Amino acid sequence: MSAGLFDPFTLGGLQLPNRVVMPPMTRARAAAGEVPTRTMADYYAQRASAGLIVTEGIQVSPQGQGYAWTPGLHTPAQVAGWRGVTEAVHAAGGRIFAQLWHVGRLSHVTLQPSGAAPVAPSALVADGVQVFIDPHGLGADAAAGQKVQHSAPRALATGEVEEIVAAFARAAGNAMAAGFDGVELHAANGYLIHQFIDGGTNLRSDRYGGSLANRLRFLDEVARAVAAVAGPARTGVRFSPLTTQQGTSDATPQATYLAAARMLDRIGVAYLHIAEADWDDAPPMPAAFKEALRMVYGGAMIYAGHYDRARAEDAIGRGWADLVGFGRPFIANPDLPLRLRSGVALNGGDPSSYFGGGARGYTDYPPQGGGG
Ligand SMILES: Cc1cc2nc3c(=O)[nH]c(=O)nc-3n(C[C@H](O)[C@H](O)[C@H](O)COP(=O)(O)O)c2cc1C
Repeated sequence: MSAGLFDPFTLGGLQLPNRVVMPPMTRARAAAGEVPTRTMADYYAQRASAGLIVTEGIQVSPQGQGYAWTPGLHTPAQVAGWRGVTEAVHAAGGRIFAQLWHVGRLSHVTLQPSGAAPVAPSALVADGVQVFIDPHGLGADAAAGQKVQHSAPRALATGEVEEIVAAFARAAGNAMAAGFDGVELHAANGYLIHQFIDGGTNLRSDRYGGSLANRLRFLDEVARAVAAVAGPARTGVRFSPLTTQQGTSDATPQATYLAAARMLDRIGVAYLHIAEADWDDAPPMPAAFKEALRMVYGGAMIYAGHYDRARAEDAIGRGWADLVGFGRPFIANPDLPLRLRSGVALNGGDPSSYFGGGARGYTDYPPQGGGG
């Protein structure tokens, strides 16, 4: 009999009580200094019944930040703040990985050190792709962010790419010191690693661009450096292979991501986390591609993107997925596994409180039997 959504799973030696993942979701509520708060610890601890929590994207360096109020993992105060989060989640019986993030070009000069231009593989602008900034310096509680076109980037020098690999490794070390169970590399949704992988955003002529092997080199170096620190069994990687989110495009995405998956199989990372298109009318990811991923990659597979219980059970039953992420449902339903299992109606979320603000729309969603 095949496994179901509520069966346990062993991931990198970690026992998960169910296959329901809380996938990474930026909520932009860090305090000054991009430090995680007590409220953030409460938010994650409320969701500790997930088989696995993956945090919001966490910038590995000041240069890696692309939105106001997102937390970092590169200062002692940030590490201390995250320790509060991991302790709260563990005390509530949960498991939590940190999503390590460098936004690359998707940033704004007001968020960059010394007002510098954001960095990218190549100096290309994604027209119409916006980030949000804090133009008046009011802080997350005021939630008075403003959406603006990202700033024009400059191309990284070869030596700078190596420095960013080192920043990922340092952040991974900080994550483990903060008590995380593992780390996930954000190689999806048009951010830096994705910008290196896809041919449309990488026009480099050094060893990080040109051939597919060269475009995958940055991912390879980051994954190896991070796995050397966190352990391959505690390292996952997130891709959004067949979407053209936030300005990325690739001429042969299936071949590109099958090669990337094969490469990560050699490194032995614990899981691939596939972000599927998450808008209603997007075409489904072809079954043949999901089957091909299974052929080239031997670790665990997580899928996320508009799943409900029936679709999740189907994906596990067909052998595509081991674990399934439920994003927006977790925002509004802190006890989501229980709700999915018992079939009660889910709370609806409020997109106006997704990014920035305080406890409202964050830690005030009631669990089942708690009035909701
Ligand atoms: C508010 C919000 C913030 C998100 N932030 C991130 C992020 O920081 N990193 C990431 O990889 N994906 C991020 N995502 C994408 C989710 O992880 C997930 O793939 C997406 O919401 C689709 O799943 P769903 O349909 O179950 O919500 C975010 C999604 C939402 C709704």
